[in-house]
Amino acid sequence: MNTFRKNGARIEVWRDAAQLSARAAELFADIAVQSIEARGRFSVALSGGSTPKALYRLLADDAHQDALTETWPLTHVFWTDERSVPPLDPQSNYRMAREALLMHVPVPDEQIHRMHGEDEPARAAASYASVLESEIGTPVPVFDLILLGMGTDAHTASIFPHSPLLKDSFSNQTVAAIYIEKLRAARLTLTMRVLNHAHNIIFLVSGVEKAEPLRRVFASVDSDEELPARWVRPTKGAPLWLVDEEAARLLV
Ligand code: 6PG
Repeated sequence: MNTFRKNGARIEVWRDAAQLSARAAELFADIAVQSIEARGRFSVALSGGSTPKALYRLLADDAHQDALTETWPLTHVFWTDERSVPPLDPQSNYRMAREALLMHVPVPDEQIHRMHGEDEPARAAASYASVLESEIGTPVPVFDLILLGMGTDAHTASIFPHSPLLKDSFSNQTVAAIYIEKLRAARLTLTMRVLNHAHNIIFLVSGVEKAEPLRRVFASVDSDEELPARWVRPTKGAPLWLVDEEAARLLV
């Protein structure tokens, strides 16, 4: 594994997606234990998409089940974003995490807080903001861990290039409903303000198609509305990017 710092971020380059997921599972467990020791609970926001699925499946396997037996009952699960679809829709980030992980681990149902993609987006966003306020706190919910991915257009969560969510006017929101023109679909997403208040942020980026956007994200530190993933700069600490060799091939 090759590790280095760039533009204030920590980057670990792993051979392939399997090694990257194994490292992510190890860090997930460490952060869970540390959070429970420090605060008596572990609040984590799960990313959607396909990359984290291997991590979620790993966390559900017997070895990790044993290691996390004490932590699942004290874990509170949230999402970074959700598609505006019902919970059992194949596109649902909740459904993916439920099938890969949550059905297999003893997190109490009342501690699994999905975004209601089936509801009218603005109402679902306001409702989720209330959930975050009551479950985690105000004025900004501080997660123990936020898992993020990065799209080939350098979006993260559901904050896409040139999103209005990159502008200050949204800075006091914690959850937003946003229509994504190119997808012709609405999304629910945590705002950058919430992402950047997390105790720990881990990006999972795998595959050759992510090499060019990753190169662009790390080519400068300037806030560029083309590259939302670059805007993830936590107020405390540094984001950790777990990338595989294919995705890292253009990083110098
Ligand atoms: C989503 C995700 C999104 C994802 C990126 C990368 O709802 O799709 O939250 O932000 O992390 O699109 O997805 P992959 O990891 O599948 O490439």
